[in-house]
Amino acid sequence: MSAPAVDPLYLSAVNKIGVYTSGGDAPGMNACIRAVVRSAAYFGIEVVGIRRGYAGMIAGDFTDMTPSSVSNIVQRGGTILKTARSDEFRTPEGREKAAANLKAAGIDGLVAIGGDGTFRGGVALHREHEIPVVGCPGTIDNDLYGTDYTIGYDTAVNTALEMIDKIRDTADAHDRLFFVEVMGRDAGFIALDTGIGSGAEAILIPELKTSMVTLLETLDRGKRRNKTSSLIIVAEGEEEGGAFRVAEQIKNELGYEYRVVVLGHVQRGGAPSARDRVLASRLGHGAVEALREGHTNVMIGVTHNRVVLTPMSQTWKHTKAIDHSMIDLAEILST
Ligand code: F6P
Repeated sequence: MSAPAVDPLYLSAVNKIGVYTSGGDAPGMNACIRAVVRSAAYFGIEVVGIRRGYAGMIAGDFTDMTPSSVSNIVQRGGTILKTARSDEFRTPEGREKAAANLKAAGIDGLVAIGGDGTFRGGVALHREHEIPVVGCPGTIDNDLYGTDYTIGYDTAVNTALEMIDKIRDTADAHDRLFFVEVMGRDAGFIALDTGIGSGAEAILIPELKTSMVTLLETLDRGKRRNKTSSLIIVAEGEEEGGAFRVAEQIKNELGYEYRVVVLGHVQRGGAPSARDRVLASRLGHGAVEALREGHTNVMIGVTHNRVVLTPMSQTWKHTKAIDHSMIDLAEILST
């Protein structure tokens, strides 16, 4: 396969870009960094890595990156640039310091890899200091409008499934009821997909109010069908307040013995899945192309298998909707 030709007459809007990861890490962030660095080099654009997100931008924690500095990272979880959450960057003074550092380093464009908090920071920086910024959606929660999937989501779901399959074995051996809490601060995407994938008896997500009565009926129905073990998947952002609270309520009503497992940060680690590596590569490349073409304040996403741009502000103004037919499917298959 021959490489696509670079149009020599095309004048890039940027000459030196900064790339950073911010907020919660997600498997595939490294693949995205690699795509940014290698695509930029392909177009003759220099790249500076900004360590620890906005905290590093304020501290001037920068490192020059070349195609060889991203060798052997496509398969690694975490982020080689580290990540952080910065309170100082939320202030105009913090952003002023960051912008001064970027300008002193000759950075004329940014690729921000993270969630909506990361994008809000980028938009504020552009508004006050006119540095163009383009975002790549990186969060295991998959809760960003403007892309079908975010970097890290597929891996997180697969990690959760691997764990839940093991829990099913012991649940079955002891005829027990297990409540498994998965991540997803404000969204139930991980819970819904892991629930369907693991054949859970019920799934509790923040987007849908499931009454205790319905849950009790579900468990009761299972009992009548001689089900001896049951798995209930609970999204951490679920409105009852998580797996322990729901489990206690069930115990009070039915007197069932139960166990609770909170999968937690294990879902954020590990080698990215094939899907996440490919998605991250497409998004990183798309971000460089967008900056080169003079775009700013946009997020690169993939919808219906096409790379698309969405204004960053829409990623937090609109809520990505759960597909209700998936909720119906989960219910039908668990009966
Ligand atoms: O946003 C990703 C996420 O993993 C959420 O699902 C979770 O609530 C949160 O980050 C945890 O953040 P921290 O690592 O700061 O505890």
